[in-house]
Amino acid sequence: MIYFDAAATTLQKPPSVRRAVNRAMEQLASPGRGGYWAAQSAERAMFECRLEAAKLFSCEPEQAVFTMNATHGLNLAIKSLVSTGDRVVISGFEHNAVRRPLHAVGAKIVVAGRKLFDREELLNAFDKEITRNTAAVVCTHVSNVFGYILPLEELAALCRERGVPLIVDASQSAGSLAVSMKSLGAQFIAMPGHKGLFGPQGTGLLLCAQPGRPLMEGGTGTQSRLPAMPEELPERLEAGTPNVCGIAGLLAGLQFLGDCGGGEILRHETALRCRLQAKLRKYRAVQCFSALPELQSGVLSMRIDGVDCEDAAQMLAQKGIAVRAGLHCAPLAHESAGTLDGGTLRISFSPFNTTREVEQLACAMAEILYLTERNR
Ligand code: ALA
Repeated sequence: MIYFDAAATTLQKPPSVRRAVNRAMEQLASPGRGGYWAAQSAERAMFECRLEAAKLFSCEPEQAVFTMNATHGLNLAIKSLVSTGDRVVISGFEHNAVRRPLHAVGAKIVVAGRKLFDREELLNAFDKEITRNTAAVVCTHVSNVFGYILPLEELAALCRERGVPLIVDASQSAGSLAVSMKSLGAQFIAMPGHKGLFGPQGTGLLLCAQPGRPLMEGGTGTQSRLPAMPEELPERLEAGTPNVCGIAGLLAGLQFLGDCGGGEILRHETALRCRLQAKLRKYRAVQCFSALPELQSGVLSMRIDGVDCEDAAQMLAQKGIAVRAGLHCAPLAHESAGTLDGGTLRISFSPFNTTREVEQLACAMAEILYLTERNR
């Protein structure tokens, strides 16, 4: 299979990740719940993972809370800061992982910034909407549908100036773009472990500037006489036995990133995206949603005249090529871009993709276009 769905999950991982998970399965017990070697080794693996995350995202190790995915982290963050009736400003490119928890708590959601690849319009809209009675701003760093890189640094500065807490969804940027808790001054930054950080599925990180409100209560292996959850991070937000095997894999993923550098990954993915776009330029039936390289990551969405996106993805799947089509759990982003009707066909690249695979994808698309034209 040729895999172009890294925005959903990075299926190909560095071999060190698989080795770390296997080792953890065999050797690691419940962390913080025993003085014997296997429990202490688990505790050490978790601490090392927090340390790596702290280095990569400029925070303190205890501010790196383990979650099961970005959705879990966003739920924790949103439910810590937002109550019923609160006014919350979000971008027009948010995923349902932001929109649904806000809807569930009964927030008054204000959408700011609807124009694809237009950072100025977005900043002006936020400038207008971040009022004194705004409880929080929630913004994605990169759109999962279009790869649009939003102006997060400028938005964070605006939030700091107005004293409004910022929650960042770094699902599509962590690992390939700089994400710094310290320089953004965000309250919370949520990210999955299984995408750009190359950990296994079922892992994620929530970087927290404050302890937040637990979604779940239970054993932490610390302060066990207390009926309530401890006040301190990370224990406050981590009840029950954690996903130690996943975390051991995530640690290996973070170490891989530390060795190869996020800038290099983004350059590789962008080069592949541009190569594909260049190949598709000659087809008038193909509409690619693209921008200047500094405005877009290694994600390319497109529509094909007369071909349903889901059908196109299915035809590619039959040729052994994996992509994602439809609404990508982000109807708001499609509404903003005018693609709610049918969604888009999304190609998303990873550092493990090659130019040869891009050539194969371009050939497969040429065949689909030829057959569609012939059957008209
Ligand atoms: N949100 C992920 C995607 O965009 C799952 O595919």
